[in-house]
Amino acid sequence: MPEKKASKNLIGILISGRGSNMRAILDRISAGDLDARAALVVSNEPKAAGLLLARECGVPTLVIDHRDSLTREEHDRKMADALGARGVRLVCLAGYMRLLSPWFIERFEGRVLNIHPSLLPSFPGRDAQRQAIEAGVKISGCTVHFVDDRVDSGPIVLQEAVPVLDDDDPDTLAARILEKEHDLYCRAIALHFYGRLRVAGRRVLGTNPRVD
Ligand code: GAR
Repeated sequence: MPEKKASKNLIGILISGRGSNMRAILDRISAGDLDARAALVVSNEPKAAGLLLARECGVPTLVIDHRDSLTREEHDRKMADALGARGVRLVCLAGYMRLLSPWFIERFEGRVLNIHPSLLPSFPGRDAQRQAIEAGVKISGCTVHFVDDRVDSGPIVLQEAVPVLDDDDPDTLAARILEKEHDLYCRAIALHFYGRLRVAGRRVLGTNPRVD
């Protein structure tokens, strides 16, 4: 049988913790359902559990502890050098809990995605699920968006709604949202590499073509 050609859609994944979104992306790639290749996983946290998962999946990992750099930009330059050296074309933040410097955003302009567990622009920042419950919304969900230099901001690529149930606490809601996140992130990455996405101001066009 002819060997399958390695995908040219090289991604770098940035994590700070558990890494379940990263794992979902890696699983989708190895199942042949996402035309991409993970070139590198970078964590700013040496103890991130996701590092072990990445290694188990045979993906190179790198720890760049932010505490070892004087400035945010200095830290981000180290990440950019490593990602650039591996030919990364798309950077996916998967539970990466640090703001990126304007320098990094410009270096990878239009090529950095993030996932967040709320329907942005509602409930950015930490504890998004708790924020949603406390605000009394009936519907929350998750968002994949291009990253700018503010927290959980930037043009929205895809969203998925999840109902908030009467007996939800932040953990039960987070678990149901997380299930949706895994699929949503893979769909957004596929759309990016499909090449039809167009950013027009705050809007990302090409995700939802009109069907007449
Ligand atoms: C996910 O719920 C992700 O949406 C969230 O952190 C979790 C990481 O889980 N990200 C943010 O809140 C970004 N502001 P994971 O490590 O299992 O993918």
